[in-house]
Amino acid sequence: MPRFKKKTNKSLLKTIPMDEVALDLGSPDSLFQSLIQHSCSIERFYEYYWEQRHLYIPCLKSESGDNCQDKQFSGTRSSYFSKLFNHEILKEIVVSKKLEYGKDICACRFDDEKKCRVNAEEDGPVTADKVHSLFHVDEMTLQFHQPQRFHDELWKIQEKLESFFGSQVGSNVYMTPDGSQGLAPHHDNVEVFILQLEGEKEWKLYSPVVNLPRNSSSDFDDTTVKGLTLLDTIIMKPGDVLYFPRGTVHQAKSIKGTGHSTHLTISTYETQCWGDYILDFIPYLTDVAADKVVSLRRGLPRKYYNQTSTDGFKQNLKEALISLAESLTESTDVEMSDSIVCNFFANRLPPFGSVQEQLGKNPTLSSMVRLSYPDHVLISRGKGQYHAEDTLEEEDNDLESDEEGDKEDSGKMEVYVYYSTRNRRITHMMEEEEKPKGLRFAAECWGGLTTLKKSESDFVEVSDLNLPMHVGLDMLVALWAEGLLECKNDN
Ligand SMILES: [Fe+2]
Repeated sequence: MPRFKKKTNKSLLKTIPMDEVALDLGSPDSLFQSLIQHSCSIERFYEYYWEQRHLYIPCLKSESGDNCQDKQFSGTRSSYFSKLFNHEILKEIVVSKKLEYGKDICACRFDDEKKCRVNAEEDGPVTADKVHSLFHVDEMTLQFHQPQRFHDELWKIQEKLESFFGSQVGSNVYMTPDGSQGLAPHHDNVEVFILQLEGEKEWKLYSPVVNLPRNSSSDFDDTTVKGLTLLDTIIMKPGDVLYFPRGTVHQAKSIKGTGHSTHLTISTYETQCWGDYILDFIPYLTDVAADKVVSLRRGLPRKYYNQTSTDGFKQNLKEALISLAESLTESTDVEMSDSIVCNFFANRLPPFGSVQEQLGKNPTLSSMVRLSYPDHVLISRGKGQYHAEDTLEEEDNDLESDEEGDKEDSGKMEVYVYYSTRNRRITHMMEEEEKPKGLRFAAECWGGLTTLKKSESDFVEVSDLNLPMHVGLDMLVALWAEGLLECKNDN
């Protein structure tokens, strides 16, 4: 049964016909591999380029002279890229949606003489006439925020990339007039993939001022830029892709005489570094470890606040931190979801074309089942001390263990199923939800749920899930009712 109906209207915001698609959207991995094309394998990319150095991926030339024909795809890459965003698409969005300057669209121009950025001072509702004059009369670069909110093909691509990275993937479109530059030199705090959609643009990449910065920079002045090492100058043409790590200083100018340029910046890995994770994890780890390790429960020195800068205090603190780190290797009984992953599941794109209804009939003990969108389901367990209590809704089907079913080691444990299938696409990267949607089940459901998750798109017999008699079927019905479980019954 198809999960969504194909419509036959002429909107440019719908998905692009399969025979014109030039990326492999079959799976998150195949999509990423097709994005970096022939340049290297995914393993090589992570080993050699990711967070380390830029990678320019020019389009392949096909034998016929048509550019960007990658053997396994029928669509040409430059033609496909040009349909991801262009002036007609911009116009359709501006006319059909309520957009605001600042929030959805910005306009700016880099003054090459004064070496600074000039911003259009617009606010309020966006109109097609004004956008036209900002671009054609004022010769400003239009920056369109998060077009995946409106264009289905970008939704499809970015949702798959979010599954690939396990991190939110945002995008911005930059439409620059002929021979013009929009932004001043700067660096970002995200990993960046540039897709050249139309026209040509010259990119200058410079060595970072800060390696892998946690914040984006303000505009760099000319003196600072002159002091940086120029890493590369690249002329991007339609169908080309460029990756550079966060921190790479960059500026880009459309090539005079080649018409306007449109490029799409896809970015990811904002606040997703080890430091962010540890910052988030330490309170939980400390709480668990202090219950177990006596040295962490010893009192601080008397009037410790007068001693925090002494060598003795620092030595004691170091020893406490070592006990904390050691307790990590011992604590194998709790698997929790930190707030980084909860935030990801609360705010990522929902699956493209997902339905909000039950798939198949309700499950029975003789059914075959599978998760409808395994990439969009996160299974976790814990004891509720972390933020599980306030991130999950209490459901009618809440399956808190009763006294009978409790085992000594699992009495307080609970299993959580977080899911992103009902997230809102229209607010992606614009508004933040605090909590992912979730269901709570008894600890005994853990084995069955992990089997379901591991089997991915394969159906499994309910009898093979080894679910506890008293709660197992209720759990499956709860998942099915939420549209998370697909079910095949014998009759
Ligand atoms: Fe940037």
